[in-house]
Amino acid sequence: MERRTIGAAALSVGAIGLGCMPMSWAYSTSRQRGEESLRAVHRALDAGSSLLDTADMYGPFTNELLLGRVLKERRADAFVSTKVGLLVGDQHIVANGRPGYVRRACDASLRRLQTDVIDLYQLHRADPEVPVEETWGAMAELVRAGKVRALGLGAVGARSSRRPGARLHDATIRQLERVQQVFPVSAVQAELSVWSPEALETLLPWCEARGVGFLAAMPLGNGFLTGTLTPGQGFEADDLRARHPRFTAEMMAANQPIVAGLRRVARRHGEHVTPAQVALAWVLGRGRQVIPVPGAKRERWVTENAAAAGLRLTDEDLAEIAGLPPAQGSWD
Ligand SMILES: NC(=O)c1ccc[n+]([C@@H]2O[C@H](COP(=O)([O-])OP(=O)(O)OC[C@H]3O[C@@H](n4cnc5c(N)ncnc54)[C@H](OP(=O)(O)O)[C@@H]3O)[C@@H](O)[C@H]2O)c1
Repeated sequence: MERRTIGAAALSVGAIGLGCMPMSWAYSTSRQRGEESLRAVHRALDAGSSLLDTADMYGPFTNELLLGRVLKERRADAFVSTKVGLLVGDQHIVANGRPGYVRRACDASLRRLQTDVIDLYQLHRADPEVPVEETWGAMAELVRAGKVRALGLGAVGARSSRRPGARLHDATIRQLERVQQVFPVSAVQAELSVWSPEALETLLPWCEARGVGFLAAMPLGNGFLTGTLTPGQGFEADDLRARHPRFTAEMMAANQPIVAGLRRVARRHGEHVTPAQVALAWVLGRGRQVIPVPGAKRERWVTENAAAAGLRLTDEDLAEIAGLPPAQGSWD
């Protein structure tokens, strides 16, 4: 697989990573399969998808524990990317960016991951109660202590409230400008996909201008862009899509033209090429800094997604995707 080099620490990773979240979090727990997930992680490493993206809050904790079982055997093949700063309660998630907490959380992640260094340590969300410089300073100390190789920042999400008239990534860019004064940012993680292209306006250009890597989260539109979901199929109550405005039966039906367009492009490249691969190739093509981290827990999807690194979209393909209708349904 093609490799990409990102950030101040010149991190080298396979161009398409693996998002490990669906193995333990956010999607229906009844569909989580431990052993198959383990095989999926091995499959990703075999295919050159070295970047494994997780977070202490996925599970919580069980996603890092699962990766630890693989890393114990194959640390040299993997690039470990985890996150700190969000705590999961019974019915809520809260931010904690206090320096003492960050130090303890890092040690706990290292233990669960069964490694002595985290390649990319990301601040999942800044804590509104703690100046971001303080949190980032504590993370920088972890780099100096050799527990972490590089630092990343998670973008403020689309669900968060915004100042009137503000663009989606204005708040994230303000945070980035502040933390850069303390210690270099090596990567930013934010949603980027065919149906959520907002990062192309300001956030990705900000990264490109500074050599900062861009981890593209949700590159498959939480599965919608793969064309394997059916409008009205319903989601279990613990699946984030049960409350997501784009996953009502009405919005899934309204957004079908986007999947149809990806399918048309896929067909031009051969009968085995899938809409998911076209969606990933499009994200990969947005810039040399971009590393999509498609989430998957099945070996079959991991294999398919890794192969998308070899798919080159033509000008005709790109024009067709650019002409697709914008997605309907939003958090606003
Ligand atoms: N920083 C943040 O705030 C944040 C937020 C969300 C996500 N993320 C990161 O981004 C990663 C990706 O996001 P995501 O997992 O939510 O969304 P995604 O990558 O857009 O979609 C994942 C879904 O697509 C399905 N899928 C994957 N490959 C497929 C294929 N080839 N064909 C058919 N279906 C396929 C998966 O199914 P299976 O699960 O059944 O395999 C899963 O349900 C996460 O794992 C996480 O690391 C970060």
